[in-house]
Amino acid sequence: MKFIYTNVLLFSFLFVFSLSHIRASNSAIDNFLQCLPSRPNPSHPISNVIYTPTNASFLSVLQSYIRDSRFNTSTTPKPLAIITALDVSHVQATVICAKTSGVEIRIRSGGHDFEGLSYTSNVPFVILDMFNLRSIDVDIPSETASIQAGATLGELYYKISQKSKIHAFPAGVCFTLGAGGHFSGGGYGNLIRQYGLSVDNIIDAQVVDANGRLLNRKSMGEDLFWAIRGGGGASFGVILSWKIKLVRVPEIVTVFNVQKTLDQGATDVVMQWQQVASTIDKKLFIRAQPQTIQQGGSKTVQVTFIGLYLGRASALVPLMNKSFPRLGLQAQDCTEMPWIRTTLFWNGNPIGTPLEVLLDRTPSPSNSYGKHKSDYVKTPIPRAGLEAIWKKMIQVQSNNILLMQWNPYGGRMSEIPENATAFPHRAGNLFKMQYLTLWQDGSVDAINKNIQATRDLYATFTPYVSKNPRETYLNYRDIDIGTNTNGNLGFAQDFFKNNVKRLLEVKAKVDPSNFFRYEQSIPVFPKKQSS
Ligand SMILES: Cc1cc2nc3c(=O)[nH]c(=O)nc-3n(C[C@H](O)[C@H](O)[C@H](O)COP(=O)(O)OP(=O)(O)OC[C@H]3O[C@@H](n4cnc5c(N)ncnc54)[C@H](O)[C@@H]3O)c2cc1C
Ligand SMILES: *[C@@H]1O[C@H](CO)[C@@H](O)[C@H](O)[C@H]1NC(C)=O
Ligand SMILES: *[C@@H]1O[C@H](CO)[C@@H](O)[C@H](O)[C@H]1NC(C)=O
Ligand SMILES: *[C@@H]1O[C@H](CO)[C@@H](O)[C@H](O)[C@H]1NC(C)=O
Ligand SMILES: *[C@@H]1O[C@H](CO)[C@@H](O)[C@H](O)[C@H]1NC(C)=O
Repeated sequence: MKFIYTNVLLFSFLFVFSLSHIRASNSAIDNFLQCLPSRPNPSHPISNVIYTPTNASFLSVLQSYIRDSRFNTSTTPKPLAIITALDVSHVQATVICAKTSGVEIRIRSGGHDFEGLSYTSNVPFVILDMFNLRSIDVDIPSETASIQAGATLGELYYKISQKSKIHAFPAGVCFTLGAGGHFSGGGYGNLIRQYGLSVDNIIDAQVVDANGRLLNRKSMGEDLFWAIRGGGGASFGVILSWKIKLVRVPEIVTVFNVQKTLDQGATDVVMQWQQVASTIDKKLFIRAQPQTIQQGGSKTVQVTFIGLYLGRASALVPLMNKSFPRLGLQAQDCTEMPWIRTTLFWNGNPIGTPLEVLLDRTPSPSNSYGKHKSDYVKTPIPRAGLEAIWKKMIQVQSNNILLMQWNPYGGRMSEIPENATAFPHRAGNLFKMQYLTLWQDGSVDAINKNIQATRDLYATFTPYVSKNPRETYLNYRDIDIGTNTNGNLGFAQDFFKNNVKRLLEVKAKVDPSNFFRYEQSIPVFPKKQSS
């Protein structure tokens, strides 16, 4: 009897306790929603862009920029509201009202965050969705462009190509990445060795700060402008738009894609690739992409070498013969095309695909589960190391796509000091690696198994990659390296190395109340007593 009674009591207590919890968060969101129209903008009424779970299209708006099925389940924590800003006044209202009502926001542009941190969280939150803010203005006479946060890379590449055959912008390979997240985390692609990262070619930005003010480079100051170039936008403010410097490319450039399995001597080729890929002519970028494949009845590793050369094939073939003969690149492996067509080639589209594919905002395939990690390599991995890695790739692959992308550095990347922007991974790196595990089975078992497989492969690399810190690319978001709980900074050291100190100073200055926060944001520490 007594046992039952205390249980009932405990249960009622918990019930009332959790109800009051729900009520508390309800009232914060109610205050937020009531606050929004208090800053009226007659030409852009904010009620047209507020979605709560009672709006019929709430789920489809949420899902339209979810890019990983792991965060697309019925149990994934959902936002209390989504504000699909159409105007800067909507961004300012969202920031001011969220701050005064104590609601956390998550900012989403392209939605490609590998851990879904732009649209899910374990705390109550609302999404500030930027996909409607996507204008792009390319100005060839000044060789610049303005691009809003919700624009995709495909839209940018397309717009540039409509105005010039000899201009480009150094940024990612995947067309559907958003300029908001991608640029603020660094942004690299196959122009990295010649022109550096996206952040190395940004000359101004518009940001809404924690007080709802709209700032540009001059009014925000060089500290904040430094931090949002590589430090991630979402620790500091809402990026509305970027002003970028376009780069020049020849009218005709050359690409190739050559594959070698282990039987065909892939290990020898990778040994030589490690020596040359970061030191060869900076007009040449050669990605090595090892992948576990089926061969006959068993598994092996195949390495794909994908190249972009900012010149003609007639110059590339002798260059490769001299510096990288083990690949055996022949003229017939090379295809010449305008730069814009290389963006489709690198994305895996067949030659001849219409350029308008660049404007498609939905990636294909649109639904896949994934786990990603990254590492930096500073000394060549010895042959025995490569052999151990191939063995592990074969061992942990099952019912999934298991591949790695090894992207050479050097060239322009070694010329830019580590502290020039918040992105710290510069000279001294041979290449950066991405681990990609992609699968289709949504069962808890399959998810756990695939995440574990990725972690096991990562563990195999420990002897061969950077240490103290084990450097990690911010845009290859990886929650395994830690969060900011209790002011923990381990993850920040991996992402930002020696730039952590300045990032903490900028954060304390521009957002002392820590309004712009999420699981891996730069924290604010209580002010130290000055002695
Ligand atoms: C298929 C695929 C291919 C990729 N290829 C490359 C590649 O070639 N090169 C490369 O460098 N990276 C690549 N990435 C990683 C990519 O750069 C990051 O995922 C990047 O953060 C995506 O930006 P987003 O705006 O699309 O993502 P989101 O998920 O919208 O945002 C990512 C982060 O930025 C924050 N954020 C977004 N918008 C804003 C804003 N307006 N203001 C402030 N903060 C904001 C978010 O809150 C979140 O923390 C790839 C990712 C995928 C899924
Ligand atoms: C969502 O529903 C509310 C209440 O009916 C309405 O005011 C608002 O305009 C709706 N949002 C959109 C984007 O239609
Ligand atoms: C998310 O779910 C919706 C509805 O089932 C689906 O249309 C969409 O393709 C899914 N997206 C991803 C990335 O899984
Ligand atoms: C490289 O050049 C040498 C000398 O001209 C030639 O014999 C050889 O066939 C070339 N190799 C390739 C792969 O073209
Ligand atoms: C980077 O560090 C160097 C050497 O410590 C210093 O001279 C320079 O001013 C720093 N640059 C920036 C942008 O902080």
